[in-house]
Amino acid sequence: MIIPSSYEINEGDLEGKVILVTGANRGLGLATTIDLARAGAIVIMLGRDIGSLEYAYDKVLDLGYKEPILYPLDLEGATPEDYQELQDNITTNFEKLDGLIHNAAILGTMMPIDQYDIRLWYSTLQINLSAPFMLTQFLIPLLNKSEDARILFLSSEQGREAKAYWGAYGVSKFGIEGFSKTLSEELEKTHIKVNSLDPGHMSTEMRRTAYPAEDSSKIPPPESKSPSIVYLMLPENSDIHGQQLTIAKLD
Ligand SMILES: NC(=O)c1ccc[n+]([C@@H]2O[C@H](COP(=O)([O-])OP(=O)(O)OC[C@H]3O[C@@H](n4cnc5c(N)ncnc54)[C@H](OP(=O)(O)O)[C@@H]3O)[C@@H](O)[C@H]2O)c1
Repeated sequence: MIIPSSYEINEGDLEGKVILVTGANRGLGLATTIDLARAGAIVIMLGRDIGSLEYAYDKVLDLGYKEPILYPLDLEGATPEDYQELQDNITTNFEKLDGLIHNAAILGTMMPIDQYDIRLWYSTLQINLSAPFMLTQFLIPLLNKSEDARILFLSSEQGREAKAYWGAYGVSKFGIEGFSKTLSEELEKTHIKVNSLDPGHMSTEMRRTAYPAEDSSKIPPPESKSPSIVYLMLPENSDIHGQQLTIAKLD
């Protein structure tokens, strides 16, 4: 399913919503945080590096948008106890959660399987696939307390069509697609809507690492994709569920 790329954000569209974004300190995660805060949502910014999280937080405040919440957590090493603590914190402060955006990911390395670094394989699957599983499991009770909630998994074309040398990254994104579909069926009769989204190419650190020789000025910035994520959080789009989404190229 193709979703619009030209949604114009209105301040107040997401007033009263509490939405958690992983990898919120830079790239698409930061662009999404800014647009959600602009639409009036309280964003729980999860990231592993407190310094860059604080820098990103200041950026949201400087723009005059809704004050976000910082939540430092390294998704590679996080334990069930850490996720329980996060659940307890959100319960105490907000009682519910309206959105969970699984954005954080690492590229791993571009390498043939017979040479792929085994530790990096485990790290990539941990951050890109197992952490979203645990985070989802611990936050479903809070999403169930919302009258209209969303879970969005950032995927990739490498998660929909296998390609040589994408190794653990491609496998993790295929896993995310399967996880999203499984979860959407399990939550069919709830108020939680679950989808995966391939945002398309974006000029972020991940893209520059994968394509170092590319002229990044010709690649769209993450700020051109984040309004589509806000669009998916809108109450009027609660009928979008169980879909593999892509963003329209021209709109
Ligand atoms: N860029 C593209 O062209 C493209 C295309 C298709 C899909 N995507 C997908 O879009 C999403 C965002 O990608 P991006 O391009 O914005 O990537 P990015 O610029 O590399 O940002 C990745 C984010 O994930 C965070 N992260 C990595 N490991 C983490 C960990 N252990 N714990 C917590 N946070 C961690 C990073 O935090 P640190 O700053 O601490 O590293 C950073 O905030 C990803 O899911 C990616 O697969 C991207």
